[in-house]
Amino acid sequence: MEASSADAVVADGVQKRYGEKQALAGFDLTVPYGTVYGLLGPNGAGKTTAVRILSTLIRLDGGHARVGGHDVMKEPVKVRRRIGLAGQYAAVDEVLTGRQNLEMFARLFHLGSRRARERAAELLEQFGLTEAADKGAKEYSGGMRRRLDLASSMILAPDVLFMDEPTTGLDPRSRGEVWEAVRDLVAEGTTVLLTTQYLDEADKLADRIAVIDDGRTIADDTPAALKNTVGGDRIEVVVGSAEEIPDAVRAVARVSGADPAIDLEELRVHGAVTDRVAALTEVARTLQDEGVTVDDIALRRPTLDDVFLSLTGHTTAEQERPGNTDSEDAKKDAKKEAKKDAKKDAREEERKEEAPVA
Ligand SMILES: Nc1ncnc2c1ncn2[C@@H]1O[C@H](COP(=O)(O)OP(=O)(O)O)[C@@H](O)[C@H]1O
Ligand SMILES: [Mg+2]
Repeated sequence: MEASSADAVVADGVQKRYGEKQALAGFDLTVPYGTVYGLLGPNGAGKTTAVRILSTLIRLDGGHARVGGHDVMKEPVKVRRRIGLAGQYAAVDEVLTGRQNLEMFARLFHLGSRRARERAAELLEQFGLTEAADKGAKEYSGGMRRRLDLASSMILAPDVLFMDEPTTGLDPRSRGEVWEAVRDLVAEGTTVLLTTQYLDEADKLADRIAVIDDGRTIADDTPAALKNTVGGDRIEVVVGSAEEIPDAVRAVARVSGADPAIDLEELRVHGAVTDRVAALTEVARTLQDEGVTVDDIALRRPTLDDVFLSLTGHTTAEQERPGNTDSEDAKKDAKKEAKKDAKKDAREEERKEEAPVA
């Protein structure tokens, strides 16, 4: 793939192995300047690995990658001058206030103390944190923390911003706040590559979506086209008994273009629909008229699972591997690790700037 100067990020057959584990096995991506790109994939797909390679935190072992026109292996320092990185776990120091956090990061990036103060004030304003600026970050909501983290990755006003799962673990309102902040950045011309496990998030924010599965890019398209491959929105009915499944299948088939899918274990029938509300009303009325026990009936937007099922024939859960557990303990451990990592990264950054790797 020929890198064009119009592209902010180009990854071409990138490979990365951790011991036995091939985390990236031919990862391709082209992100034009001025776009928001969503990198969508389940836990363990290789998203963080890709972001860490592109932001020069770790080295690739095969293929090529360029960011901001510079090769990540040959010119990491030049790459680093053009990028910002908001990691998967917010690298916010809870002991400090929001303002102090930003000033500290600004000093880490070699801004003088006066410029650091100015830049912190600008960013607090830009991310809607002025009022909370002098509160301890431990009092911040999840959304505020992520915005503070985003602000700290924008200290040097980078051309390209990487965001690793910016809203994982946030409540809906906080997610909305982070989405707003991302939209503002994009309006100002920042190119954004964000990773996510949520189709709706990629859909809301991204111009294009690359789907990553087991270290490979398996699809690269617009959100609309991707959603079309899964057949759009779905209606789901859960009935009271197995004998009622055929009734539900008939009712759903009447409003759905395709054959409804049946989950015998959960007594669930679902099918794609175009006119959401009309479909819901119609199915509910039909089932009521026929005296079918409906335990649940709902419309749902297609999810990453639906995309996976249609692209790969398996769901994301089926390929979850050991070591990718979502237990609270694992999350806590990961958080601790990430914090250590973030601090270490910041120190390494400093050192690398001084003694660039060739
Ligand atoms: N430092 C590491 N050592 C060993 N295996 C790792 C390491 N980091 C990630 N992996 C493995 O590489 C794969 C991709 O991980 P990652 O890039 O973190 O995926 P994602 O961010 O999409 O969840 C996973 O199977 C993960 O367990
Ligand atoms: Mg990750």
